[in-house]
Amino acid sequence: MSRVTPGQLRQMKERGEKIAMLTAYDYPTARMIDEAGVPTILVGDTLGMVVLGFDSTIPVTLDDVIRHTAAVGRGAKHALVIADLPFMSYRVSDEDALRNVARLVQEGGCQAVKLEGGRSVAALVRRIVDCGIPVVGHLGFTPQSILQFGGARVQGRAREAAAHLLEDALALDQAGACAVVLELVPTPLAGLITRRIGAPTIGIGAGPECDGQVQVISDILGLYPDFVPRHARLYAHVADTIRGVATDYLRDVQQGAFPAAEHGSKMDADLLDGLEP
Ligand code: KIV
Repeated sequence: MSRVTPGQLRQMKERGEKIAMLTAYDYPTARMIDEAGVPTILVGDTLGMVVLGFDSTIPVTLDDVIRHTAAVGRGAKHALVIADLPFMSYRVSDEDALRNVARLVQEGGCQAVKLEGGRSVAALVRRIVDCGIPVVGHLGFTPQSILQFGGARVQGRAREAAAHLLEDALALDQAGACAVVLELVPTPLAGLITRRIGAPTIGIGAGPECDGQVQVISDILGLYPDFVPRHARLYAHVADTIRGVATDYLRDVQQGAFPAAEHGSKMDADLLDGLEP
């Protein structure tokens, strides 16, 4: 099966087919998501929280994302792999940003990059797209600006803010973004943006009118013990499973119930004669 392309995402929008996206940060998870047929995988900088244990995405480095993107790429043979440009990796200058994008693509092996912002990054998006690299935008609550927002809050509720978000989305669309993530955007505004732009919108906490949905895999697995966002649906309780397994294993090791004979290997015990004092 061939790799999903950005053009196919646009065709899915045109056909009214919903686009599913999940985050992944490692080889086995990416492999399972890919085998399930999810067409797009995001190596998000949520990596910082759900894998590395930071309390925001700000400490995530380009090297972190490259390392995890390469692991995801080894697992995902069919899905389009999108890698996040981390905090400040595209804000210092366009030249610096282009070098960082090149590293993500060459060393990480992703097929698209994602960055946060609207009109302020539209010219950069155009330059990256002109290099032949697909770009996904990210609007609404943009976690790399948490210092400004002060927390994860719904964006665009007031008319002026809504109009600004629409302008940002139009600017990304005109700059050639192949999709736009809408995070914590009110449902009617997300619907309006979805109808106004050609690129597919991928919502997270933005309601059902988007062209697709993205979720952080740890949130829907019940794997991140610190917090479950209101927009996530728990499909499993993997943290409970891991705690239960660790407790059972600890008990078995302490009581000598593990390992059993079948977990070891045999040899002729006579060969050890004389080696024990
Ligand atoms: O970093 C991430 O996982 C993201 C999603 C929440 C969209 O940007």
